[in-house]
Amino acid sequence: MTLRDDDAFREWQKQAWTDRGEGWDRRADEMEEMSKRFNDPLLDLAGIERGMIVLDLASGAGEPALSAARRVGVAGQVLATDFAPAMMAGIRRRAKAAGLSNIGFEVADAESLPYPVASFDRVTCRFGLMFFPNPAQALKEALRVLKPKGRAAFMVWGPLADNALFSLTMAAAIETLMPEEEEFLTQPFTLGLPGTLHGLMQEAGFADVEEKSIQVKSRAPGDRPFWRANLDMMLGRRYAEASDAQKQALEEAIRRQLEAYREGDDYRLPVHVRYAAGTKP
Ligand SMILES: C[S@@+](CC[C@H](N)C(=O)[O-])C[C@H]1O[C@@H](n2cnc3c(N)ncnc32)[C@H](O)[C@@H]1O
Repeated sequence: MTLRDDDAFREWQKQAWTDRGEGWDRRADEMEEMSKRFNDPLLDLAGIERGMIVLDLASGAGEPALSAARRVGVAGQVLATDFAPAMMAGIRRRAKAAGLSNIGFEVADAESLPYPVASFDRVTCRFGLMFFPNPAQALKEALRVLKPKGRAAFMVWGPLADNALFSLTMAAAIETLMPEEEEFLTQPFTLGLPGTLHGLMQEAGFADVEEKSIQVKSRAPGDRPFWRANLDMMLGRRYAEASDAQKQALEEAIRRQLEAYREGDDYRLPVHVRYAAGTKP
């Protein structure tokens, strides 16, 4: 499937995320620790404080909406949105388990938000923008629903080559399971070059735009198939329904490529995420 800005592609993509919902819900809790490390910089950059009304776009299984709800407290409110209801099973479950009463859930396409002008103090979006067929339109929508002086912050993956776990699991998946979906699988990295987010936000009309990055080497255990969470979440049903032989070929390809990152008993895998935030004039 070729990436493009039309209704047929949107429908195809919605189905692809619907198929992944179960895997994201299953893996959401184990991702929590990693999530925290990258969420706070996003919430800081957005300037989220107690009492604010926040819109989170493409919330999926819950972040950063859940962290934002904790930060704004009971005097504030977070509205978590996603265009694929199945992806929101995790956030509903986790919000309930955490006893959060200041978070709501709605189905909404980030490119055509069903909210009036100037409804929110802040807009956040983690790992969503690069999936929208028309990110510029989504940024315009974020600007429209923000109150004057309100701020929006977006987080995306850096370049694929700087994100080893993805680059090697994607390469293995393309090699062994779904060669026809290379473009879709590499879509998460399309806004990762320095300056890309900054430029898009400025063009959309945001002021005081700032962009920053975090690059770390993440430790991964040598004695556990930690990459299965990634496969579950990114390949969804395609992975669940693969034959045992296909899964074995996929895992062999991953193990082979992981060796380049071995340090003693473990692996050290580069991770690169980028953030940009801007203010509504
Ligand atoms: C990689 S997940 C990110 C989920 C969550 N924010 C996180 O970081 O864990 C991408 C999400 O974008 C959603 N999405 C993709 N296109 C969308 C659109 N046009 N409008 C709203 N959500 C969309 C998908 O359904 C999916 O839940």
